[in-house]
Amino acid sequence: MSSKKQPIAGSIVILDFGGQYAHLIASRIRRFGFKAYILPSDTKAQTLKNVAGIILSGGPQSVYEAGSPQADPAILALDIPVLGLCYGHQWVAQALGGKVAPGTVKEYGPVALKQTHGDLFRGLPKTFTVWMSHGDEVKELPEGFETIASTVNCAHASMQNLKKKIFGIQFHIEVTHTQHGMEILRRFVDLCSPEAWSMTSYAAHVGEEIVREVGDRKVFMLVSGGVDSTVAFTLLNKVLGEHRVQGLLVDTGLMRKGEVAAIQKAFKPLGMKNLQIEDASEKFFAALKGVYEPEKKREIIGRTFLDVQREVSDRMGLRIEDGWMLGQGTIYPDTIETGGTKNSDKIKTHHNRVELVQKMIEEGLVIEPLKELYKDEVRQLGEELGLPHELVWRHPFPGPGLGVRILCASTPTLIPNASPAEREMKDRLVLPVRSVGVQGDGRTYRHALALFAKDHSCPTDTHYALASSIPNESKTINRVLFCLSHAKPFEISFTPTYITSDVSDLLREADAIVTETIRAANVYEEIWQFPVVLLPCGATEGMRSIILRPIESTDAMTASAFRVSRDVLQKMTKEILKLRGIDAVFLDLTNKPPGTIEWE
Ligand code: XMP
Repeated sequence: MSSKKQPIAGSIVILDFGGQYAHLIASRIRRFGFKAYILPSDTKAQTLKNVAGIILSGGPQSVYEAGSPQADPAILALDIPVLGLCYGHQWVAQALGGKVAPGTVKEYGPVALKQTHGDLFRGLPKTFTVWMSHGDEVKELPEGFETIASTVNCAHASMQNLKKKIFGIQFHIEVTHTQHGMEILRRFVDLCSPEAWSMTSYAAHVGEEIVREVGDRKVFMLVSGGVDSTVAFTLLNKVLGEHRVQGLLVDTGLMRKGEVAAIQKAFKPLGMKNLQIEDASEKFFAALKGVYEPEKKREIIGRTFLDVQREVSDRMGLRIEDGWMLGQGTIYPDTIETGGTKNSDKIKTHHNRVELVQKMIEEGLVIEPLKELYKDEVRQLGEELGLPHELVWRHPFPGPGLGVRILCASTPTLIPNASPAEREMKDRLVLPVRSVGVQGDGRTYRHALALFAKDHSCPTDTHYALASSIPNESKTINRVLFCLSHAKPFEISFTPTYITSDVSDLLREADAIVTETIRAANVYEEIWQFPVVLLPCGATEGMRSIILRPIESTDAMTASAFRVSRDVLQKMTKEILKLRGIDAVFLDLTNKPPGTIEWE
């Protein structure tokens, strides 16, 4: 019997009440060089008795509401340091007999904080700016606690019970708008003395885990061309040896230019020859013929993927009965998003966790060597394994590939009942297509509005401001674009479009121009993702348009438009307009929300 130590032992555990920033806190602690994990808020105290510290996250609800998420009160008697943040601060106060109620004034945004003598604020100025976002507040402290900071509208902005090492903070230390936020977090972490975390020690630990989990079996893995599956495949090869691992890369015809070759080239110096490449593009194009609905496209691409995978593994004799298991490149946020944090407002089931795979996981038929790592850590590991820097730092690319970036439609869609003002705009044009967006928790399916200007080489601050205000005020518009190719609105010509080999080639070329231009300008790694989208309409008959969608983000849940320089925009527009079949180029200025990153 192996006496396996729990991975959370000696770590700082973040109990997640559904706040958006739990990942940010965990990854910060790891960057300090210590172990950190996220667990559901109602994790039992018994499970946590060997951890070094507990952080209670923020959350969208009120602690006193019926059905609101609660933690196990016994965690406060474990004699382990606890830090409550926002909702977590209020939960601690309530759980220990204090009082929480709606504040007289709701505080949102930057506020001046006055701190007195708290241990977490040692050495910091007496007054500094913090970021608040709360309607409720702690009205009465629990017994044994003292106030250590306040603002004009929040008397107990921070509290402590030094004897018990329990702290509460109402403001958000994890956002950059809070001054000294990371220093405060660091002080709490030092107080906990957690175990060290480093990529080298992790790689050694995960190597042992792989050997133990796989036993004498072999691993079959789908390699998509994305960073995660490439690194996972390389790691499995290194630990198990080439003869016990088989990779499959399905060429869907919807991949980036030179993708297959780039992966082969990266694997060659590592001596990995166990990657089978299956060109299934014809199958995908045949299945997508005449398909216009975004969700239908996704479903068909997903199903065709599974068909091809089954066909190839049957052909190669990679059966579970014969000792094969499935490898996946699932990373930590993917694991957490499905089921890990039930209080979160924005849960989606990740494709690595569909029902069939979930069942296989329960039966011990799946190995996921990266499941404890964040994206930047996966990249670091990839480089340590000898994969080229360029490959591991590539922008994230969606599973269905260019398929979600070719906007398909059989007929133009116009805004019904457009007002005369909306129809007769001199510097604006509503495009006759709709794209997906997100507002609140729901998806929208609305039109894009293009803005025009005499100087059409680069948008101004005014254009970016309009991109925020217009979707907020309109019920029909969810995106705002800036036209880079034309100074004035033009008569739109619509071309019915579904995914074909030709259309994919056209978009692939435009995408390659964008990648080459931003790499040459040295801004590739400043940009989080840069989808390039093909629209089924242009300025003349039979022509189509390209939309550039550069964004900044940390986790793709929210994003803001990245401001590309005038020079770079001009260069790519000029090159894209040389492509046969394209006669207009637009830049998407929309943040997420209200626009999603992809157009679908
Ligand atoms: P949206 O468009 O929802 O995208 O703002 C958020 C992030 O998810 C990526 N994305 C996907 N990734 N399979 C993936 O592996 C998919 O089906 C998929 N769809 C969207 C998208 O590129 C962005 O980074």
